[in-house]
Amino acid sequence: MHLPVLSLLLSSVGLASAQYTVYQPQQQVIFGGNTNSSIQGLTTASAAYDPTLLQAPTPPDPPVPTNQFVQLYSGGMDDLSMPLSGAFFGFSIEMSIATRVLGKNSSLLQVPFLNLMANIKERVGWVQVRVGGNTQESAELVQSLPNGITLAKDLSSAFNPTGTPPLAYTPDLLYLMGNISSLTNTRWYLGVPFFNNTPYSLGIVQQGQQILGDNLIAFQAGNEPDLYAQPPRTHRPPGYGPFDYMGDIGMLVGQVANNSLIPKKNNLFVVPSISATVWTPEEVWNTGIVGTYSSSLYGLAVERYLSNNCAARYGIGTAINPQDVFPSYLTHNSSVNLVSSYVNSSQFAMASNKPMLMFETNTASCSGFPGISDSFGAALWSLDWAFMMAFRNFSTALFHVGGQNAYYNPFTPPPTNQSAFRQWTIGPVYYSALVMAEALGPSNASRVLDITQNLLTPIYVIYENGTPTKLAFFNFVTDPSGANDYTATFAVGGGSTGLPGATPSTVKVKYLSAPSVSVKGNFSWGGQTFGNNFESDGRLRGAPVIQTVNCNTQANTCQVKVPAPSFALVFLSDVALMAVSSATLTFPTTVVTRTRNTVYIDPSLLANSNGDYGFQNKKGRTSLSSDARPLRQASSGSFAHACIVAVLFQFLTYLPW
Ligand SMILES: *[C@@H]1O[C@H](CO)[C@@H](O)[C@H](O)[C@H]1NC(C)=O
Ligand SMILES: *[C@@H]1O[C@H](CO)[C@@H](O)[C@H](O)[C@H]1NC(C)=O
Ligand SMILES: *[C@@H]1O[C@H](CO)[C@@H](O)[C@H](O)[C@H]1NC(C)=O
Ligand SMILES: *[C@@H]1O[C@H](CO)[C@@H](O)[C@H](O)[C@H]1NC(C)=O
Ligand SMILES: *[C@@H]1O[C@H](CO)[C@@H](O)[C@H](O)[C@H]1NC(C)=O
Ligand SMILES: *[C@@H]1O[C@H](CO)[C@@H](O)[C@H](O)[C@H]1NC(C)=O
Ligand SMILES: *[C@@H]1O[C@H](CO)[C@@H](O)[C@H](O)[C@H]1NC(C)=O
Ligand SMILES: *[C@@H]1O[C@H](CO)[C@@H](O)[C@H](O)[C@H]1NC(C)=O
Ligand SMILES: *[C@@H]1O[C@H](CO)[C@@H](O)[C@H](O)[C@H]1NC(C)=O
Ligand SMILES: *[C@@H]1O[C@H](CO)[C@@H](O)[C@H](O)[C@H]1NC(C)=O
Repeated sequence: MHLPVLSLLLSSVGLASAQYTVYQPQQQVIFGGNTNSSIQGLTTASAAYDPTLLQAPTPPDPPVPTNQFVQLYSGGMDDLSMPLSGAFFGFSIEMSIATRVLGKNSSLLQVPFLNLMANIKERVGWVQVRVGGNTQESAELVQSLPNGITLAKDLSSAFNPTGTPPLAYTPDLLYLMGNISSLTNTRWYLGVPFFNNTPYSLGIVQQGQQILGDNLIAFQAGNEPDLYAQPPRTHRPPGYGPFDYMGDIGMLVGQVANNSLIPKKNNLFVVPSISATVWTPEEVWNTGIVGTYSSSLYGLAVERYLSNNCAARYGIGTAINPQDVFPSYLTHNSSVNLVSSYVNSSQFAMASNKPMLMFETNTASCSGFPGISDSFGAALWSLDWAFMMAFRNFSTALFHVGGQNAYYNPFTPPPTNQSAFRQWTIGPVYYSALVMAEALGPSNASRVLDITQNLLTPIYVIYENGTPTKLAFFNFVTDPSGANDYTATFAVGGGSTGLPGATPSTVKVKYLSAPSVSVKGNFSWGGQTFGNNFESDGRLRGAPVIQTVNCNTQANTCQVKVPAPSFALVFLSDVALMAVSSATLTFPTTVVTRTRNTVYIDPSLLANSNGDYGFQNKKGRTSLSSDARPLRQASSGSFAHACIVAVLFQFLTYLPW
């Protein structure tokens, strides 16, 4: 453990790793007392829009090797990962913000969220999303709530050591998820509220299955149970250990078996989702829990953040200066070291015939770091971390969405009282999700191998059915001089390998790029972007840019340039590129129902609509909310734009090159 932050993490054990989310005050966006009409003219105290810019680490001296040669072999290579799903990279959404992110209720879905999921579906066929986190643990499914709302936070009784308020929600949240599934093929993980086990509140296990059917993947049983008895938490008595947790799982399985209302299904639960700061995974496996409850278990999970920002956010532990730790994110060593404590566990999971899941991860717990978690560096880090987990036989990695108070969100809806005139903010981690979807593709056959030669320039290869189909090249360095750009030269078979040369004559390359690892927003993936803060409806904008590289057919080599900083995904065949470039429209949308506060769509309009034609015939409400009106003069340009987007939500297009 080379990072200074990790020793701090251990010194504040029980506090450092958990994803704390403190919910009040909800709305922190304030106007800066400045009449500047642009979005940049607003100052904001929300972490999600924090303007902190760090300095990119100084370039290494000597520079990274400017020529790197990669030899690939037809048929396969040693140490490839198991075959992986293209939906590997998914999302974890804190339960308390579910209605902010997914939609107000089952008849008002958030259009940007639909688009964000549809982007992934277009590439790999489906998406996996977990709704849960700390707030699931005392959440309660109730049949109705006052005023017909879908989810409520009981702020009056919010006092508890983590500031996590009890939550109540109605079955409409499950219908909302079901409607999202039917439009975007999103499949879900939910959680059993685990704090009270006498008895467990099993309504979600019953109705979650009944309402979501096959779109429900599994239920998490316990979120970071290794922290339950860590002061100041008192969710279990002091000394609560892995065997006690196994006992809790036994009770859960027994109560479910005894409950005649619950549909009976094998492989339903995810365990143990430990933070691994108090218990090691092996301590849990060694209880025998997996063998004992095998038929009840879907998969084995852990949760892990690289570092934590608990001191700055909540005064817990020792302060970490983001600028000091920024370089620790911009090296392959980060993911090599982070995955090392789970390699044995993923082997155990494979031997137990269960998938290994990273159920919740991101740059840093306690909201992330300003300037790191929302920077281009975080896109490169999360992508390297995802490839590393894939290489080490995790089957899924869910990146957390924490809401307005988090720096690391893959995507953030605007604050409630600004949602009539602002759009969503797409963070670096969502770009990584898209890239990973394209890297793995829809075949379920992609196997990943780490072939890195230099820690600042990770390299992976993806094989499908014995054939290398893609190469992934990173450059973590920021150096506008060009001295740290490198040229990757690769060959497939041929030459000294004694195998027939199979180097393609041309390859296609897409870049993930930004001018520096420290910049925020407006990142480019294959020439397209989701823009800056408050600018996205969830669709990529701009013309795709896909480079064609002609290879050297004499030498049987191809050369790809990897600027500092950037990530390059090389498609070794047009088939590989086409597989993730479908121009198929995921669903033809027509009209957005614009309610008082935000841009929503009624799924029944989608169900009955027929592309442009449907748009002609179905008009959503477009009346403006009164709270938006004062901004009309102040920001007429972006306001008008927001109205157009709200009314004229168009096709989900992903144009091929
Ligand atoms: C990479 O991590 C290992 C293990 O912690 C450490 O021994 C090594 O010094 C690190 N290398 C660099 C260049 O930081
Ligand atoms: C949103 O709410 C915050 C906090 O309540 C308030 O300061 C701000 O002025 C509101 N913004 C708008 C546009 O209403
Ligand atoms: C508004 O702010 C932006 C960004 O800070 C700046 O470029 C622009 O000049 C400002 N406009 C006015 C009218 O002050
Ligand atoms: C991952 O799984 C593959 C088998 O599918 C195996 O060959 C490889 O050794 C495993 N990797 C690790 C690190 O266990
Ligand atoms: C969703 O919310 C809208 C606006 O508050 C309301 O009119 C509608 O009835 C709600 N739908 C459901 C299914 O509760
Ligand atoms: C969508 O929501 C409605 C309730 O508003 C529900 O009747 C319907 O079953 C839902 N569809 C799916 C696929 O869950
Ligand atoms: C399940 O029901 C049986 C028979 O009524 C009872 O003995 C057992 O204690 C129950 N188990 C749980 C976990 O409630
Ligand atoms: C790997 O995990 C197994 C199962 O928990 C355990 O028995 C073994 O000791 C672990 N090996 C290492 C090196 O940690
Ligand atoms: C990949 O797996 C998904 C989910 O298990 C399945 O729906 C899909 O049909 C599979 N695709 C291929 C090409 O096998
Ligand atoms: C966004 O990035 C593009 C290059 O990809 C650049 O041309 C444009 O000026 C940037 N826009 C903003 C607002 O930063």
